[in-house]
Formats: sequence, structure tokens, C-alpha cells
Amino acid sequence: MKINTEWKDYRIIATGDGEKLERWKDVVLLRPDPQVIWRAARPLRDICRPAARYVRSQSGGGHWEYNSPLPDSWVVSWRDLRFNVRPMNFKHTGLFPEQAANWATAIDLIKSAARPISVLNLFAYTGGATVACLSAGASVCHVDAAKNMVETAKENVALSGLSDRPVRYIVDDCRKFVVREIRRGNRYDAIVLDPPSFGRGANGEEWKLERDVYDFLTMCRSVLSDEPLFVLLNSYTTGLQPAVLSNLLKLTMPDNGSVTSYEVCLPTDEGTVLPCGASGLWTGKGVRYE
Ligand SMILES: C[S@@+](CC[C@H](N)C(=O)[O-])C[C@H]1O[C@@H](n2cnc3c(N)ncnc32)[C@H](O)[C@@H]1O
Repeated sequence: MKINTEWKDYRIIATGDGEKLERWKDVVLLRPDPQVIWRAARPLRDICRPAARYVRSQSGGGHWEYNSPLPDSWVVSWRDLRFNVRPMNFKHTGLFPEQAANWATAIDLIKSAARPISVLNLFAYTGGATVACLSAGASVCHVDAAKNMVETAKENVALSGLSDRPVRYIVDDCRKFVVREIRRGNRYDAIVLDPPSFGRGANGEEWKLERDVYDFLTMCRSVLSDEPLFVLLNSYTTGLQPAVLSNLLKLTMPDNGSVTSYEVCLPTDEGTVLPCGASGLWTGKGVRYE
């Protein structure tokens, strides 16, 4: 299990009855969480009144209900990195705080490589991993199908004072992009990928994790450089165990590397940990990782 305990601007105050009460800097939000199958000790809204709550609808979607006015967006910091957050569709805020565990791993691996590292960040969303890898000195190619997510990633890179670092932003379907990179002969020392359970490419291309991820990883192997550093695969898909991610990486990445996998969790003020998905990490030959 990996938990990053460095957050000062993010906390889970309490959980229960299918929801989590979180503090994002000065703003308290209440959001559904499918892992929270226990009862709340007392109603979460009595512990601390959330500024906004995401309410699921019967049809499967949902909407935000506001108790007090919120800024359009506000900034949270992790280490010296800064990210814009805002209530968005699908109960999102524009950041997955549990991913700090993986940002820390990527930063350590890039720094200890002590050579120029190029990273391909696929399904890159608002650029949490992009910002982390740039801060460690890597160059990053950031790929996501959603133009507005790529715009937010640019904001986060600028907020973190990293706009002068080598970063390329691509709005495209990840599979189409990787096929083109194979054809062009472009190679990367590290790949980070956080594919959703279901998604759409920039032109509506359908992505289904269980159906597509194995073949996609096989393609990704072809864009690894001659001295690859790591491949970091994350999944929030409910039910996908860490061992599944290990297996996928063992079966698709070069044999001479090492594979590990772990649950990714967040600590709560209640003394529990909230599971937030799983990650698999393949490291290249001779790469030391603790
Ligand atoms: C939920 S996010 C991943 C989380 C993110 N990497 C993080 O840790 O902060 C999934 C992203 O995949 C993108 N996406 C979904 N299907 C895609 C596809 N076929 N090609 C490119 N991006 C896609 C979505 O636009 C979304 O930004």
C-alpha cells in the first residue's frame, strides 16, 4: 500500500454513508465515494458544513449543490507544486490527491537516474504527473483527448513555475498518438498512464480499459527507449487488484526489468485509510527502486 502523507492543503476529515468530507485548502467539499460502504459515526454535514456537495442522480450522472459561493477555482499546493482545483463534471475537482504517492515515486526515479529523461504522460488529465516529472528535470509529452484538461494542465505547469521546462501538449486519442510515435521512431525513457475505465478519444474513439489496456501496453512498449527507466500504470477501475497491474506489466514490458504493484490510498482524520485504486510499476534493467 502506498500513502503520501505530505499533503497540507488536502485532508479527508471524515467518511461514511457512501461519502467523504474533504478539505481542499480552505474549501470543504462532500463527494460520493464507492469504497465508503460503512456508516458515518454522525452525519458528515454536521461535522463541518461543506461549501458544495456532489449529488448523484438516479440516471447515473449527478450535479453539485452549493451551500456557499465558491471561487471559480482555487490553488492547492503539494511540496512546491501548485494546482488549480474547481468543482467539475463527474464529481471531479481536477486533481486526484492520492496520485501524490506516484508523483513522489516518479520524481525519485527521474532524479536518481541522473541523466536526461523523457516522459510520455498518457491520459494525462490536468497534468499532476506532468508537473511532477517536469519539476524533477524530465522533459514531458502530455497527451489527453480533452482540450479543456490540457488547458488546465498548462495552467498547473505555469502555477508551479515550470513553463520554461521542455513540455509538449497533445490533444489526441492516446492510441492514435502512440501509433504515430512508433511510425515516427520517437522514443521515451518513461511512460506514465492513468487510463479511465471508459473514455473517448478526441474524435470519439471508444476506450474500454478491460478490453483495450493489454494491447495498448504492448504498443507502448514499442515507444520505450533503449535504456528505459520506468512505466507507471495506474487504475481507478473498481475491482482491479494490484496483482492484475503487475501481470499486465510483466506480460507486456521487457523481461529484464522488475515489477511491483500496490494499492494507492489516502489517510483520513479518522485513523483509517481510503483505497483509491491501484498502481503497477515496471522499472528498467539495473534501475534501483525501494
Ligand atoms: C480520470 S483521468 C486520469 C487521471 C490523471 N492521470 C491524474 O492522475 O490526475 C482520465 C483522462 O483520460 C482522458 N481520456 C479518456 N479517453 C481517452 C483517449 N482515448 N485518449 C486520450 N485521452 C483520453 C480523459 O480526457 C481524462 O482526462
